[in-house]
Amino acid sequence: MEPSIENYIKNLVRDAILHLQFRNERQTYVVANWKMNKTIAEATEFFQKLKGRQDVKVVVCPPAPMLYPVQLMIKQIKKPIGLGGQNVHWEEKGAYTGEISTGMLKDVGCEYAIIGHSERRQYFLEDDATINRKVKKAIKAGIIPILCVGETLEEKNLLQTEQVLSRQLFGALKGIDMSQLIIAYEPVWAIGTGQSATADLAEQTHAYIRSVLKQLVGHRAETISILYGGSVNGENAADFRSMPNIDGVLVGGASLNASSFDEIIDVFAKGVPNI
Ligand code: PGA
Repeated sequence: MEPSIENYIKNLVRDAILHLQFRNERQTYVVANWKMNKTIAEATEFFQKLKGRQDVKVVVCPPAPMLYPVQLMIKQIKKPIGLGGQNVHWEEKGAYTGEISTGMLKDVGCEYAIIGHSERRQYFLEDDATINRKVKKAIKAGIIPILCVGETLEEKNLLQTEQVLSRQLFGALKGIDMSQLIIAYEPVWAIGTGQSATADLAEQTHAYIRSVLKQLVGHRAETISILYGGSVNGENAADFRSMPNIDGVLVGGASLNASSFDEIIDVFAKGVPNI
């Protein structure tokens, strides 16, 4: 049946209303990815200096041996900071030297785990099928995955960004209940380079990611927070904050220093959504 103009307009209006409604309901996150950085002494100093905020969800993802000490540090400073792992295995236990299970993450107080970071894809050859198993296991265990997706510079130059994101999202989210999930869009060319995506480009790409999520879960896609990552700092954070499809940031380099991380937290805590 041909859709009538009336129905077409009705659908457009309904989509716009849903978008506005959920934009206000979506959780905003500022997530620190410390990667392979910080000793116990350095982490202690970081938390002594960090101001933090009550009015935005802050999550810190330290290296695995630091998870337990960092959990104690967070408890000690009595700030509402969540804890996340940087990786997780799809099995609960067994002969997997060097790996970490969801049970272990939960045992030390983690609620989140970064999964599919481009550095894991690049250096440890994680593919979409592996990432799918990890996301599945995390959700089953009650750990919220922060699923990273993003194109390389070469893929960007070949105009393949949408194709790559679509493949990564469909691959990683196959057969998954997405009620508890965070997506992080991290263009590989922007990570650690000081060359962040412009807020306009990131917004356009986040809107595309949301359209792919819609194909997977319909209007529930509007409830999924999509974070931007890649050279975020205190200066460019406000530009990302002002975009309707950017629900927070995943921060590497600038999260290692308490005052630069606080600057970013402040931007996301006090900004008014631009809708
Ligand atoms: P960056 O890293 O902020 O240092 O670019 C972001 C990330 O890899 O998560």
